[in-house]
Amino acid sequence: MKISEIERLKKDLQATVKELSDSYEELSLLYKLSEEFSGLSVDEICKTLLMELRSLFQVKTSAILFLDKNRNVLKTKEFLGQWVHEIEFERENNIFWHVLETGKPLAVCDFQESKWKMQYVNNSAVIVAPLRGKKQDIGVLFLADKEDGLEFFSGDVKLLNTIAFLASLFIENALLTEEIQSFLIGTIRSFIKALEATSLWTAGHTERVTEYALGIASSMELDATVMEKLRICSLLHDIGKITIPRDILNKVDSLDDQEREEIMRHPVIGAEILSELKGFVDIIEGIRYHHEHYDGSGLHGLKEKEIPLLSRIIAVADAFDAMTSNRPYRQRKSLFEAVEEIKSLAGKQFDPEVVKAFLKWINVSPTAVR
Ligand SMILES: [Fe+2]
Repeated sequence: MKISEIERLKKDLQATVKELSDSYEELSLLYKLSEEFSGLSVDEICKTLLMELRSLFQVKTSAILFLDKNRNVLKTKEFLGQWVHEIEFERENNIFWHVLETGKPLAVCDFQESKWKMQYVNNSAVIVAPLRGKKQDIGVLFLADKEDGLEFFSGDVKLLNTIAFLASLFIENALLTEEIQSFLIGTIRSFIKALEATSLWTAGHTERVTEYALGIASSMELDATVMEKLRICSLLHDIGKITIPRDILNKVDSLDDQEREEIMRHPVIGAEILSELKGFVDIIEGIRYHHEHYDGSGLHGLKEKEIPLLSRIIAVADAFDAMTSNRPYRQRKSLFEAVEEIKSLAGKQFDPEVVKAFLKWINVSPTAVR
Protein backbone atom coordinates (compact mmCIF):
# COMPACT_ATOMS: atom_id res chain seq x y z
CA MET A 1 0.00 0.00 0.00
CA LYS A 2 1.32 3.41 -0.97
CA ILE A 3 2.09 6.00 1.69
CA SER A 4 -0.45 8.42 0.17
CA GLU A 5 -3.13 5.72 0.41
CA ILE A 6 -2.26 5.04 4.05
CA GLU A 7 -2.49 8.77 4.76
CA ARG A 8 -5.91 8.89 3.08
CA LEU A 9 -7.15 5.89 5.08
CA LYS A 10 -5.84 7.48 8.27
CA LYS A 11 -7.74 10.69 7.53
CA ASP A 12 -10.91 8.72 6.67
CA LEU A 13 -10.61 6.83 9.91
CA GLN A 14 -10.11 10.03 11.91
CA ALA A 15 -13.15 11.60 10.22
CA THR A 16 -15.26 8.49 10.98
CA VAL A 17 -14.15 8.48 14.62
CA LYS A 18 -14.99 12.20 14.89
CA GLU A 19 -18.42 11.61 13.30
CA LEU A 20 -19.11 8.68 15.63
CA SER A 21 -18.05 10.66 18.65
CA ASP A 22 -20.26 13.59 17.58
CA SER A 23 -23.21 11.23 17.05
CA TYR A 24 -22.55 9.65 20.43
CA GLU A 25 -22.50 13.09 22.10
CA GLU A 26 -25.68 14.06 20.27
CA LEU A 27 -27.40 10.82 21.30
CA SER A 28 -26.31 11.25 24.93
CA LEU A 29 -27.61 14.81 24.88
CA LEU A 30 -30.95 13.75 23.40
CA TYR A 31 -31.22 10.97 25.96
CA LYS A 32 -30.47 13.42 28.78
CA LEU A 33 -33.07 15.88 27.47
CA SER A 34 -35.68 13.11 27.09
CA GLU A 35 -35.10 12.16 30.72
CA GLU A 36 -35.39 15.78 31.82
CA PHE A 37 -38.56 16.50 29.81
CA SER A 38 -40.35 13.35 30.86
CA GLY A 39 -43.48 14.03 32.94
CA LEU A 40 -43.07 17.85 32.87
CA SER A 41 -45.73 20.43 32.07
CA VAL A 42 -45.42 22.63 28.95
CA ASP A 43 -44.06 25.54 30.98
CA GLU A 44 -41.54 23.34 32.76
CA ILE A 45 -40.34 21.78 29.47
CA CYS A 46 -39.87 25.25 27.95
CA LYS A 47 -37.98 26.52 30.98
CA THR A 48 -35.66 23.47 31.01
CA LEU A 49 -35.16 23.62 27.24
CA LEU A 50 -34.24 27.32 27.22
CA MET A 51 -31.75 26.88 30.03
CA GLU A 52 -30.10 23.89 28.32
CA LEU A 53 -29.90 25.74 25.00
CA ARG A 54 -28.23 28.76 26.58
CA SER A 55 -25.46 26.69 28.08
CA LEU A 56 -25.12 24.29 25.14
CA PHE A 57 -24.88 26.94 22.41
CA GLN A 58 -23.26 29.58 24.64
CA VAL A 59 -25.92 32.15 23.80
CA LYS A 60 -27.37 34.97 25.88
CA THR A 61 -30.76 34.77 24.19
CA SER A 62 -33.04 31.79 23.72
CA ALA A 63 -36.77 31.95 23.16
CA ILE A 64 -39.72 29.80 22.23
CA LEU A 65 -42.43 31.35 20.10
CA PHE A 66 -45.79 29.63 20.19
CA LEU A 67 -48.30 29.58 17.39
CA ASP A 68 -51.67 30.77 18.64
CA LYS A 69 -53.97 28.99 16.21
CA ASN A 70 -57.12 30.85 17.18
CA ARG A 71 -55.66 34.22 16.30
CA ASN A 72 -53.09 32.92 13.82
CA VAL A 73 -50.24 34.79 15.51
CA LEU A 74 -46.84 33.82 16.88
CA LYS A 75 -46.26 34.93 20.43
CA THR A 76 -43.71 34.56 23.16
CA LYS A 77 -43.47 35.19 26.85
CA GLU A 78 -39.72 35.46 27.05
CA PHE A 79 -37.71 37.28 24.47
CA LEU A 80 -34.15 38.61 24.32
CA GLY A 81 -33.54 37.37 27.83
CA GLN A 82 -36.39 39.31 29.39
CA TRP A 83 -39.86 38.42 30.48
CA VAL A 84 -42.28 40.43 28.40
CA HIS A 85 -46.01 40.58 28.22
CA GLU A 86 -46.56 38.70 24.92
CA ILE A 87 -45.33 39.95 21.63
CA GLU A 88 -47.20 39.24 18.44
CA PHE A 89 -45.15 39.03 15.26
CA GLU A 90 -46.18 40.29 11.84
CA ARG A 91 -45.97 37.82 8.96
CA GLU A 92 -44.24 39.91 6.33
CA ASN A 93 -40.50 39.22 5.89
CA ASN A 94 -40.51 37.48 9.22
CA ILE A 95 -37.95 34.73 9.77
CA PHE A 96 -40.10 33.00 12.42
CA TRP A 97 -43.10 32.62 10.13
CA HIS A 98 -40.80 31.55 7.28
CA VAL A 99 -39.22 28.76 9.36
CA LEU A 100 -42.58 27.63 10.68
CA GLU A 101 -44.10 27.49 7.21
CA THR A 102 -41.17 25.77 5.49
CA GLY A 103 -40.43 23.47 8.43
CA LYS A 104 -36.69 24.03 7.88
CA PRO A 105 -34.17 25.60 10.29
CA LEU A 106 -32.30 28.72 9.27
CA ALA A 107 -29.18 30.53 10.46
CA VAL A 108 -28.47 34.14 9.53
CA CYS A 109 -24.96 35.55 9.97
CA ASP A 110 -25.83 39.22 9.87
CA PHE A 111 -29.46 39.80 10.64
CA GLN A 112 -29.36 43.56 10.15
CA GLU A 113 -28.05 43.15 6.62
CA SER A 114 -30.41 40.32 5.72
CA LYS A 115 -33.79 40.48 3.98
CA TRP A 116 -35.54 39.69 7.25
CA LYS A 117 -37.08 42.68 8.90
CA MET A 118 -38.30 42.39 12.41
CA GLN A 119 -38.95 44.51 15.42
CA TYR A 120 -36.98 43.62 18.58
CA VAL A 121 -34.20 41.73 16.77
CA ASN A 122 -30.95 43.69 16.74
CA ASN A 123 -28.66 40.71 16.82
CA SER A 124 -26.14 39.97 14.13
CA ALA A 125 -26.16 36.16 14.20
CA VAL A 126 -29.42 34.31 14.83
CA ILE A 127 -30.64 30.79 14.38
CA VAL A 128 -34.26 29.59 14.19
CA ALA A 129 -35.63 26.02 14.14
CA PRO A 130 -39.23 24.83 13.71
CA LEU A 131 -41.14 23.16 16.53
CA ARG A 132 -43.44 20.72 14.80
CA GLY A 133 -45.35 17.99 16.55
CA LYS A 134 -46.78 14.89 14.91
CA LYS A 135 -50.20 16.44 14.56
CA GLN A 136 -49.68 20.17 14.81
CA ASP A 137 -47.29 23.06 14.32
CA ILE A 138 -46.20 24.32 17.72
CA GLY A 139 -43.96 27.30 16.96
CA VAL A 140 -40.23 28.00 16.65
CA LEU A 141 -37.04 27.98 18.70
CA PHE A 142 -34.86 31.08 18.51
CA LEU A 143 -31.22 31.56 19.56
CA ALA A 144 -29.10 34.71 19.33
CA ASP A 145 -26.20 36.59 20.95
CA LYS A 146 -23.38 34.06 21.02
CA GLU A 147 -21.26 34.72 24.09
CA ASP A 148 -18.08 34.83 21.99
CA GLY A 149 -19.67 37.20 19.44
CA LEU A 150 -19.13 34.65 16.68
CA GLU A 151 -21.53 33.18 14.12
CA PHE A 152 -23.33 29.88 14.33
CA PHE A 153 -21.84 26.82 12.55
CA SER A 154 -23.77 24.53 10.25
CA GLY A 155 -23.41 21.87 12.98
CA ASP A 156 -25.31 24.22 15.31
CA VAL A 157 -28.24 24.37 12.87
CA LYS A 158 -28.38 20.58 12.62
CA LEU A 159 -28.11 20.09 16.38
CA LEU A 160 -30.73 22.72 17.20
CA ASN A 161 -33.08 21.18 14.65
CA THR A 162 -32.68 17.72 16.22
CA ILE A 163 -33.30 19.13 19.70
CA ALA A 164 -36.33 21.06 18.39
CA PHE A 165 -37.71 17.83 16.90
CA LEU A 166 -37.37 16.02 20.23
CA ALA A 167 -38.76 18.95 22.24
CA SER A 168 -41.75 19.22 19.86
CA LEU A 169 -42.84 15.67 20.68
CA PHE A 170 -42.67 16.32 24.41
CA ILE A 171 -44.37 19.72 24.18
CA GLU A 172 -47.14 18.31 21.97
CA ASN A 173 -47.72 15.49 24.44
CA ALA A 174 -47.75 17.86 27.40
CA LEU A 175 -50.14 20.22 25.56
CA LEU A 176 -52.49 17.32 24.93
CA THR A 177 -52.28 16.14 28.55
CA GLU A 178 -52.97 19.70 29.78
CA GLU A 179 -55.92 19.99 27.41
CA ILE A 180 -57.40 16.73 28.68
CA GLN A 181 -56.73 17.69 32.28
CA SER A 182 -58.33 21.09 31.95
CA PHE A 183 -61.36 19.41 30.36
CA LEU A 184 -61.48 16.99 33.30
CA ILE A 185 -61.05 19.77 35.83
CA GLY A 186 -63.85 21.69 34.13
CA THR A 187 -66.11 18.65 34.38
CA ILE A 188 -65.20 18.06 38.03
CA ARG A 189 -65.82 21.74 38.82
CA SER A 190 -69.29 21.42 37.33
CA PHE A 191 -69.89 18.46 39.66
CA ILE A 192 -68.71 20.51 42.62
CA LYS A 193 -70.94 23.41 41.65
CA ALA A 194 -73.86 20.97 41.42
CA LEU A 195 -72.88 19.59 44.84
CA GLU A 196 -72.72 23.06 46.37
CA ALA A 197 -76.05 23.96 44.78
CA THR A 198 -77.75 21.08 46.62
CA SER A 199 -76.08 21.96 49.91
CA LEU A 200 -77.68 24.25 52.40
CA TRP A 201 -74.54 26.14 53.28
CA THR A 202 -71.52 25.49 51.11
CA ALA A 203 -72.36 27.69 48.10
CA GLY A 204 -69.17 29.30 46.79
CA HIS A 205 -67.01 27.54 49.43
CA THR A 206 -64.64 25.96 46.91
CA GLU A 207 -64.02 29.15 44.95
CA ARG A 208 -63.39 31.12 48.16
CA VAL A 209 -61.02 28.49 49.60
CA THR A 210 -59.11 28.60 46.30
CA GLU A 211 -58.84 32.39 46.45
CA TYR A 212 -57.69 32.36 50.09
CA ALA A 213 -55.19 29.52 49.51
CA LEU A 214 -53.65 31.38 46.55
CA GLY A 215 -53.49 34.55 48.66
CA ILE A 216 -51.57 32.69 51.37
CA ALA A 217 -49.30 31.06 48.77
CA SER A 218 -48.50 34.40 47.16
CA SER A 219 -47.32 35.82 50.47
CA MET A 220 -45.19 32.67 50.87
CA GLU A 221 -43.74 33.55 47.45
CA LEU A 222 -44.24 30.02 46.11
CA ASP A 223 -43.31 29.45 42.49
CA ALA A 224 -45.81 29.39 39.63
CA THR A 225 -45.84 25.59 39.29
CA VAL A 226 -46.71 25.08 42.97
CA MET A 227 -49.34 27.85 42.75
CA GLU A 228 -51.00 26.10 39.80
CA LYS A 229 -51.04 22.77 41.66
CA LEU A 230 -52.48 24.55 44.71
CA ARG A 231 -55.19 26.14 42.56
CA ILE A 232 -56.32 22.77 41.20
CA CYS A 233 -55.97 21.09 44.59
CA SER A 234 -58.10 23.77 46.29
CA LEU A 235 -60.75 23.58 43.60
CA LEU A 236 -60.98 19.82 44.01
CA HIS A 237 -60.31 19.43 47.74
CA ASP A 238 -63.88 18.47 48.66
CA ILE A 239 -64.65 16.43 45.52
CA GLY A 240 -65.01 13.31 47.73
CA LYS A 241 -68.19 14.79 49.23
CA ILE A 242 -69.96 13.87 45.99
CA THR A 243 -70.43 10.33 47.31
CA ILE A 244 -71.69 11.35 50.77
CA PRO A 245 -75.47 11.15 51.23
CA ARG A 246 -77.14 14.56 50.92
CA ASP A 247 -79.11 14.11 54.12
CA ILE A 248 -75.86 13.81 56.12
CA LEU A 249 -74.17 16.72 54.33
CA ASN A 250 -77.23 18.92 54.82
CA LYS A 251 -78.05 17.85 58.35
CA VAL A 252 -78.96 20.83 60.52
CA ASP A 253 -78.76 19.03 63.87
CA SER A 254 -75.42 17.90 65.20
CA LEU A 255 -73.99 14.77 63.62
CA ASP A 256 -73.63 11.44 65.41
CA ASP A 257 -70.29 9.58 65.41
CA GLN A 258 -71.15 7.40 62.44
CA GLU A 259 -72.27 10.38 60.35
CA ARG A 260 -69.16 12.33 61.28
CA GLU A 261 -67.05 9.33 60.26
CA GLU A 262 -68.93 9.15 56.96
CA ILE A 263 -68.21 12.81 56.20
CA MET A 264 -64.56 12.53 57.17
CA ARG A 265 -64.05 9.86 54.51
CA HIS A 266 -64.25 12.58 51.84
CA PRO A 267 -60.48 13.36 51.63
CA VAL A 268 -59.67 9.69 50.94
CA ILE A 269 -62.59 9.26 48.53
CA GLY A 270 -61.50 12.44 46.71
CA ALA A 271 -57.96 11.08 46.36
CA GLU A 272 -59.36 7.78 45.03
CA ILE A 273 -61.58 9.54 42.46
CA LEU A 274 -58.55 11.33 41.00
CA SER A 275 -56.07 8.48 41.42
CA GLU A 276 -55.97 7.65 37.69
CA LEU A 277 -54.84 11.14 36.68
CA LYS A 278 -51.19 11.13 35.64
CA GLY A 279 -49.17 14.10 36.84
CA PHE A 280 -51.66 14.70 39.66
CA VAL A 281 -49.68 12.98 42.41
CA ASP A 282 -49.04 16.15 44.46
CA ILE A 283 -52.64 17.30 44.00
CA ILE A 284 -54.05 13.92 45.02
CA GLU A 285 -51.87 13.81 48.15
CA GLY A 286 -52.84 17.43 48.89
CA ILE A 287 -56.50 16.39 48.84
CA ARG A 288 -55.97 13.19 50.84
CA TYR A 289 -54.36 15.08 53.74
CA HIS A 290 -56.25 18.38 53.86
CA HIS A 291 -57.83 17.47 57.20
CA GLU A 292 -54.57 16.69 58.99
CA HIS A 293 -53.53 18.70 62.04
CA TYR A 294 -50.01 20.10 62.32
CA ASP A 295 -49.57 18.56 65.79
CA GLY A 296 -50.53 15.09 64.53
CA SER A 297 -54.03 15.02 66.01
CA GLY A 298 -55.82 15.01 62.62
CA LEU A 299 -57.44 12.41 60.41
CA HIS A 300 -54.42 10.20 59.56
CA GLY A 301 -52.11 11.31 62.37
CA LEU A 302 -49.55 12.90 60.03
CA LYS A 303 -47.73 15.82 61.62
CA GLU A 304 -45.69 18.88 60.75
CA LYS A 305 -43.82 18.59 57.42
CA GLU A 306 -45.10 15.03 56.92
CA ILE A 307 -48.27 16.79 55.80
CA PRO A 308 -47.94 17.98 52.19
CA LEU A 309 -47.52 21.75 51.80
CA LEU A 310 -50.66 22.01 49.63
CA SER A 311 -52.71 20.37 52.44
CA ARG A 312 -51.23 22.68 55.11
CA ILE A 313 -52.23 25.74 53.10
CA ILE A 314 -55.71 24.46 52.21
CA ALA A 315 -56.32 23.57 55.88
CA VAL A 316 -56.01 27.25 56.90
CA ALA A 317 -57.98 28.57 53.90
CA ASP A 318 -60.71 25.96 54.44
CA ALA A 319 -61.06 26.67 58.19
CA PHE A 320 -61.03 30.43 57.62
CA ASP A 321 -63.90 30.16 55.11
CA ALA A 322 -65.85 27.88 57.46
CA MET A 323 -65.41 30.39 60.32
CA THR A 324 -66.51 33.35 58.23
CA SER A 325 -69.54 31.56 56.71
CA ASN A 326 -72.99 31.21 58.27
CA ARG A 327 -74.18 27.74 59.16
CA PRO A 328 -77.79 26.78 59.93
CA TYR A 329 -76.76 26.20 63.53
CA ARG A 330 -74.45 29.19 64.07
CA GLN A 331 -73.66 32.69 62.90
CA ARG A 332 -70.43 33.48 61.09
CA LYS A 333 -67.53 34.92 63.04
CA SER A 334 -66.33 38.44 62.39
CA LEU A 335 -63.09 38.87 60.43
CA PHE A 336 -61.29 39.84 63.64
CA GLU A 337 -62.59 36.79 65.58
CA ALA A 338 -61.71 34.40 62.76
CA VAL A 339 -58.18 35.80 62.44
CA GLU A 340 -57.68 35.52 66.22
CA GLU A 341 -58.85 31.91 66.18
CA ILE A 342 -56.54 30.99 63.29
CA LYS A 343 -53.66 32.65 65.19
CA SER A 344 -54.48 30.69 68.35
CA LEU A 345 -54.35 27.42 66.39
CA ALA A 346 -50.86 27.99 64.94
CA GLY A 347 -48.67 25.03 65.87
CA LYS A 348 -51.74 23.01 66.91
CA GLN A 349 -54.10 22.57 63.98
CA PHE A 350 -52.12 24.71 61.54
CA ASP A 351 -48.56 25.11 60.32
CA PRO A 352 -47.18 28.28 62.01
CA GLU A 353 -45.40 29.27 58.77
CA VAL A 354 -48.68 29.09 56.85
CA VAL A 355 -50.48 31.07 59.57
CA LYS A 356 -47.75 33.71 59.35
CA ALA A 357 -48.28 33.93 55.58
CA PHE A 358 -52.05 34.02 56.11
CA LEU A 359 -51.71 36.99 58.51
CA LYS A 360 -49.45 38.80 56.07
CA TRP A 361 -51.97 38.22 53.27
CA ILE A 362 -55.00 39.25 55.32
CA ASN A 363 -53.25 42.46 56.41
CA VAL A 364 -52.55 43.37 52.82
CA SER A 365 -55.88 42.21 51.37
CA PRO A 366 -58.60 42.32 54.04
CA THR A 367 -61.09 43.28 51.33
CA ALA A 368 -60.45 39.97 49.55
CA VAL A 369 -62.56 38.36 52.26
CA ARG A 370 -66.26 38.70 51.67
FE1 LIG B 1 -62.76 18.98 53.34
